[in-house]
Amino acid sequence: MSAQVKVITENTHLAGARGAHSKEDCMKFYDEWAASYNSDLSDASQNYVAPIHVAQAALRSSNHNNVAILDAGCGTGLVGEALAKGGTMTIDGLDLSPAMLKVAEQTGVYRKLTICDLTQPIDIPDETYDMVTCCGTFTRGHVGPDPALREFVRVIKKGGLIIATILDEIWQPGGYQAEVEKLGAEGLVKVASVELKDYRKGAGDKATLIILERTG
Ligand SMILES: C[S@@+](CC[C@H](N)C(=O)[O-])C[C@H]1O[C@@H](n2cnc3c(N)ncnc32)[C@H](O)[C@@H]1O
Repeated sequence: MSAQVKVITENTHLAGARGAHSKEDCMKFYDEWAASYNSDLSDASQNYVAPIHVAQAALRSSNHNNVAILDAGCGTGLVGEALAKGGTMTIDGLDLSPAMLKVAEQTGVYRKLTICDLTQPIDIPDETYDMVTCCGTFTRGHVGPDPALREFVRVIKKGGLIIATILDEIWQPGGYQAEVEKLGAEGLVKVASVELKDYRKGAGDKATLIILERTG
């Protein structure tokens, strides 16, 4: 009987973006990848399930209607599309890559799409949204925990939610867990849940899926 060999195909675009040394580098990877991003990541070797987990968590936590959501690092709009299947909501998207935003625009599910660098303060008034979703953007070479998490708290209303994935290998070493604890200690958020989830099921990586509620 022949031995079974699991072949893990690393996606070269993603590997490049995770190895990015600057935001310009990262943007270039995504601008070049935008046209084939959705088909590449739906391939069985990748099976990128994280957007479905994020959208399902958001839909479970809301009344599905008249909810205003900010999809931070929306990319081509996979989270927005999954959300829109579950209810009537207003979804705005932010992303660094103009080419990714162009693909997101074609989904027709976003009210507004804006180029934005999430490593900087976000140009949105306090307490604008009911929820922030952030999928696949807290990862190596992309966006760190500070100031992004604090900014997400600022732009949601009290009682609002942040639903985000963090690539599991950097949840602790990247300082995300510590930043969540800090925001908790300041009375700004309470942790509604922290779960380990499949991220790219085909490639075998995992994400920490957090749900934070704004309390202060
Ligand atoms: C793996 S993709 C995830 C996109 C989408 N949320 C999804 O799940 O398919 C990561 C996204 O983060 C965006 N990104 C990287 N650095 C960023 C930054 N500094 N500010 C805003 N977006 C950034 C990229 O352009 C890309 O669209």
